[in-house]
Formats: sequence, structure tokens, C-alpha cells
Amino acid sequence: MNDFTFQNPTTLVFGKTSTDQLPQMIEKFTEGKNILLTYGGGSIKKSGLYDRVIKLLDGYNIYELAGIEPNPRLSTVKKGVQIVKENKIDFILAVGGGSVIDGTKLIAAASTTDVDPWDIVTRKASVERAIPFGTILTISATGSEMNSGSVITNWETNEKLGWGSPHVYPKFSLLNPELLFTLPQNQTANGIIDSMSHLLEQYFNEATNTEIGDAMISGVMKAIMKAGPIAMEQPENYEARETTMLGATVALNGYLRLGYVGDWATHNLEHAVSAVYDIPHGVGLAIIFPEWMRYVSKKKPERFVKFAEDVFGIDDDTSNEDKINDAIDAISDFWSSLGAPTKLSQVGVKEEDLEVFADKTLIYGPFGNFYKLEKDDIMAIYKAAL
Ligand code: NZQ
Ligand code: ZN
Repeated sequence: MNDFTFQNPTTLVFGKTSTDQLPQMIEKFTEGKNILLTYGGGSIKKSGLYDRVIKLLDGYNIYELAGIEPNPRLSTVKKGVQIVKENKIDFILAVGGGSVIDGTKLIAAASTTDVDPWDIVTRKASVERAIPFGTILTISATGSEMNSGSVITNWETNEKLGWGSPHVYPKFSLLNPELLFTLPQNQTANGIIDSMSHLLEQYFNEATNTEIGDAMISGVMKAIMKAGPIAMEQPENYEARETTMLGATVALNGYLRLGYVGDWATHNLEHAVSAVYDIPHGVGLAIIFPEWMRYVSKKKPERFVKFAEDVFGIDDDTSNEDKINDAIDAISDFWSSLGAPTKLSQVGVKEEDLEVFADKTLIYGPFGNFYKLEKDDIMAIYKAAL
């Protein structure tokens, strides 16, 4: 393993009673009364959560930013920054999924400065502080509720880029698995695929002696693969929601990558696609990740053999090549069984788009910590995924 220091400052409140703890949690982090409530396109109104939150915020001055899009947009973030500045907001409450939380993170950081929020995303401006914020999670997928990352889409330039800062960990996140009961099947599937992809990104790392990490990652992966189909079939199965929700949070809160960084190339490949086609992140990953695995396993097979053994128990006399192919097929078939597409052409991508995507991914140069992808590699993976 590499040397490391680990700290995650987000207070995680988990379970059926978590939502009701909102007033006490906010009091811990601000004495101010001006709250900005951020949310998405309306699911929280339909489910009744909005009314519940408004009641819990009794006594506060509530301002609202509604309509944060899936794949949150810079233009909406700018509206949020304006509301914070004009109303001296003391605390932001994000109610929603990764998109609402990611948009809120950039609002929180950009509101403390006069820089263009996009300069923060593109690392031209640094983040020195942020307005404190907390979250109530309504879809488990990204881990954004307990990490310091955020992904923003600039629809004017068709760029979707990740950024992060230790100042944008949520102060608290309230996770009630019952809030997932209203998720449509495809969003449940997207969340399962995204959280599993985070596990894969981290499993494929360059460090040595990562037995603890390998065991944790494969354990969480197996638990999600067992509970996921139950959550798909029985949306109100509390235990299945509990497992997939906690699984998604630990998959990307830093705890499973102690001593290594993971690869992360596939996320970059996916973001270039959803920046143009505005598809859900989980859909793009379901298509691209198996092709990344097929391509990279031919270059660096050893880790893939261990993956097949750790996650699928494939340790019999079959050849290494068969073990690898069986494991990749098992991941890909599992995602298909959840209803995910398997080809970019199914979501409208055309061959001439591929080079445009490739150039977008290369904005900071060749990438991938486990296996560095150059343009030829990227094109080969995109072509296989088409
Ligand atoms: O907008 P509303 O009406 O709320 O509907 C949302 C949205 O359409 C709906 N939804 C959420 N909770 C619901 C619900 N519908 C019914 N009942 C509920 N309880 O689900 C749709 C998708 O929501 P979204 O927040 O977009 O999903 P997700 O959490 O998957 O977030 C995706 C975004 O996060 C980024 C992705 O790239 C994408 O932009 N990521 C962020 C990461 C991070 N910050 O660490 C890492 C990830 O790898 C990822 O890149
Ligand atoms: Zn992801």
C-alpha cells in the first residue's frame, strides 16, 4: 500500500429516523436562520418529502433553488450563487441525489468568492472556504453525500468535469432507505451500476498488498449484487434498500481506497459521453466499463484474475483467460439483467462522435492510474462500445 492519511468529516445519520434529525443537525453547524433549500425536478414534491422538510425547517427563513438537473448544469449553479449572495444564506440543504448535491457543492464554494464557478471546476481558481451545507439523500448512487467531489456540466461547451475540495464535504448527510422506495426502476439500476463502478475503479489500482481493500471492495460488491435485484423487484423492501444505500455510500467515501487511488479512466470516458448526450451516468458506465475491462485485461491480466477469484470465486482449473472473460461477462450480464443498455449506439451515439469524445477526455492529457490510456486506446474502447 501507499502511505496515507484518512479523514472524512461528514456526519452520517442512517436509518428510518434520520430525516427527523434535521433540525438538531442544522443547529450544530449554524446559528444563522437563512437556509437555501436545493432540489431537483420535482420528485421530492411528489413523494411528500418536500412538505416534511418544510415542516422540519420551521423557524428558518427558507429560500429555494428548484430544478437542479440530472447532470447538473453550470447555468443553474450560477442562479444558486446569486440567491446565496443576495440573501446572506447561512446554510444550504440539498435534498436529492448526486446531481443536487454536486450542484450544491459548487454553489457553496463559489458563493464565497467572486470567481466564475467554472474556474473552480477547471482548477483555474482554488477553493478557500465554502458555505456549510448538509444533505438528505433520495437516490443512492454517487457517494457524493459523503465525499468531497462534484461533477458539473457546462452545456455551452459540452464539457462535464469533476472537481473537488476538502471544503465541500457535506457537514451531515441524512440517509433514510425508505426515501428510495419511490425511485423508478431505471434509476435504481443506474445507482447500482454507478456504485459497483466505483468499486471497480478502486479495485483496479497499482499498489501492492491491498488485501484489506480487496476484501472490503469484493465484500461490498457481493452485497450490492445480492440486494440490488431484490430492490429492483420489490421497491419497498427496506433491507434491500438499506444494503444498496449504505453500499453506495461506502463505495465512494474514501474508506475503500486506503493506501491506493484506483484507476478512474472509465469515469472520464463516460463523462465525455454524457456531456454531449445527457444520458444518465449509470447508463454510460454500464456500456463502457465492460469494454475498458476487456481492453485493459489484455494488457495487464494479473489483477483481473484476482478480481475473478475475489468477487466471483472463480478459482478452479480454468485458464486465466477464461477466468477473466467469465468475470467480465458476469458484470456485464448483471447490468443487462437490470435493464441497462450495452451499446453506445442504443443511446444515439454515432461513429463520428467517438473522436470528439476522445478529445474531450484528453483535456488534462492521458489518464488512468492503473493503465494509462492514450488516444489510440481510448478510440479502441469507444469503438468496441459502439
Ligand atoms: O430531479 P428529480 O425530480 O428529483 O428526479 C431525480 C432525477 O431525475 C430522480 N430521483 C431522485 N431521487 C428520487 C428520484 N425519483 C423518485 N424518487 C426518488 N427518491 O432520479 C433522477 C436522477 O437523479 P441524479 O441526482 O441525477 O442521480 P445520481 O445520484 O445518480 O447523480 C448523478 C450525477 O452525479 C455525478 C454523475 O456524473 C451525474 O452528474 N457523479 C458524482 C459523483 C460524486 N460527486 O462523487 C461521482 C459519480 O461517479 C458521478 O460522476
Ligand atoms: Zn460514478
